[in-house]
Order: sequence, then C-alpha cells, then structure tokens
Amino acid sequence: MSKEEILKSIENKYEELGVPVEAMLEGLLWSKPITYWDYIQTDALLGLQIPRTTQPDEMVFIMYHQVNELLFKMILWEIDQVAKSNDISAEKFTKHLMRISRYFDVLSSSFSVMGEGMDVEQYLKFRNTLTPASGFQSAQYRKIEFASTELINLIDARFRDTIDRDSSFKNAYDHLYWQAAGKNYSTGQKTTLLKLFEKKYMGEFIDFMEDYNDCNLSKKFKQLPDEVQKNKELIEAMRHYDYTVNVKWVMAHYNAAGKYLGGDDTALEATGGSNWRKYLHPKYQRRIFFPYLWSEEEVKNWGTF
Ligand code: HEM
Repeated sequence: MSKEEILKSIENKYEELGVPVEAMLEGLLWSKPITYWDYIQTDALLGLQIPRTTQPDEMVFIMYHQVNELLFKMILWEIDQVAKSNDISAEKFTKHLMRISRYFDVLSSSFSVMGEGMDVEQYLKFRNTLTPASGFQSAQYRKIEFASTELINLIDARFRDTIDRDSSFKNAYDHLYWQAAGKNYSTGQKTTLLKLFEKKYMGEFIDFMEDYNDCNLSKKFKQLPDEVQKNKELIEAMRHYDYTVNVKWVMAHYNAAGKYLGGDDTALEATGGSNWRKYLHPKYQRRIFFPYLWSEEEVKNWGTF
C-alpha cells in the first residue's frame, strides 16, 4: 500500500469508530517508543519467583513449573485454533496438532531439568513446606484434557463401561480418573489436596467441560468429512499427540518423581498424598485421547510401548 492509501485506510477506520483521526495522529506524536521489556513484560515475569525456603534448588523447582504452565497456555491456545474454527481442513488441523505435539515434546525432553537438576537432599527439605500442594492441582493440565477428548475417555477406567454417557457434567466430573488421586477409598473421604482444588476450580471446570463437549479435538476430528478423517498425516499427528501427552510426558514425570520419592519399596508418600506409583503410571491410568486410532493390541499395552 502507498503512504496515501495507508492514511486513507486509517482515516476510514477511525471515522467508523467515531474517533477524530487528528486526535489519534496527535497522540502518536507524544507516545513513547515501544521497548522489549514493556512488550514482553519482563519485570512482571521475573518478579514471580518467590521461594519459601533457604534451599537454592527450590528456585529450579518453581521456575520449571512456571515454564510448564507457560507451555500449557501455548497448547490451550493452539487447541482453540482447531476447536473454535467452523471450517477446518486436514492441513490446518494437522498444523496445529503438530505445534501442540512439539510443545509436549519440549516438555517431555526437558523433564531432565527436574530429574537431574536438583539435589535430592535439598528437594527433600523444601518439599515438606509444600504439603499438601501438588502439580496435580494444575488447572491448565486438566483443561488440556477436557479440550482434547470426549469425557468418557477421562472417566476412571473402572466406571467407563457402566456410567450413563448422558449423565450430567457434574456426575461425569465426580467419576473423572484423577479423582482417584484425591480420595481415601477406605474412608471415602476426599483429601485436602482435592478439596482445595475443587473449591477453587470445580465450577470453572464444569463450564469448561460443557464448552468443549462438542468441539474438543476428538469431536472435531469426527465431524470432518470421511475422506479427511482418513488423511494419513492427520492420523499420524493425532497419534503423535496422544502418545506424547499420555505416555512420553507421563513417563518423564513418573521417572523424575521416582528419583526424588524413591523406588517401589521405599517410596515416600507424595505431597499430595496419592498412592502415586500406581496412580501416575500410564498402564494403570489408561488415559487415551483418541482410542479409535490405536489397534486393540496397542490399547491393551498402553504405557508399555
Ligand atoms: C521433582 C519433581 C516432581 C515430583 C516429585 C512430582 C510428583 C508428583 C506426584 C507424586 C503426583 C501425584 C499426585 C500427588 O501429589 O499425590 C504428581 C502429579 C502431577 N504433577 Fe508432578 N511432580 C514433579 C514435578 C512436576 C512438574 C514440573 C509438573 C509440571 C507442571 C508436574 C505436574 C503434575 C501434574 C499435572 C500432575 C497430575 C497428573 C495426573 O493426574 O495424571 N509435576 N506429581
């Protein structure tokens, strides 16, 4: 566009907004030049790391969790490019899925920052100040699950065959697989970890479940024309995403937890209080976003290949 055309377009835009273009142009005269730190908000971002103990490695723990949360936000952003699109091609679907998978690849391969990056003695000191908090309480992680698949795939495997698929969102919520990490099954009591999490997020989660009920990634895939659903690249992208989130990341996390909390016989109780060795392993959890894209054998051996 020429300078004249640009000025004309700006004039039209402000006319439509009912704002005098002269006032806007004069404003430009006095505005400050943009800087990196204002735009990226570095001061705010770098002011968010507040350790609770004297142990230097607690900083690694806090910051790596924050890095995860930022990437979770990038993932939710990309999911919405698919979920909220009315007319989506196989290419666009694949492009966004691959972006999401790459973010989860980063999260999985960087987990050594946690696994190798803290002294066990320091971790065992500062972890006591964090009880009963846990990464389990990451709301974005739960939203990624709700936005990726149908609720039935997030229901505790023990109830999946018997739960009424048309029951309320609240009933589905009460039977989500992750409730198992927050319930004492001998007393039926919910742990503090789960009670606090629900107090803050349950309402928001139920709204979110409803919002994504018809536009989660799995539903969007099934709404594509038959021939698009057979697109090889798209299927490969869906499988890659499912495997990266539900096996690769889960195993990277599980192995890091094992390093700090110990082996089978000596395992320490998790800060969140779950029977974590059993709860966190994908072969027990059986969380699969797109089960229809895996063979019977692959589903049966989930978490072991
Ligand atoms: C030394 C590092 C870590 C250890 C020892 C650890 C340990 C655990 C344990 C034991 C649980 C089971 C719930 C409970 O607390 O009772 C859990 C859940 C979880 N943690 Fe971590 N974690 C670590 C790092 C991280 C990091 C960096 C993240 C990133 C946000 C994270 C995210 C999660 C999530 C999302 C869950 C729930 C998983 C699910 O429900 O399947 N954790 N963690």
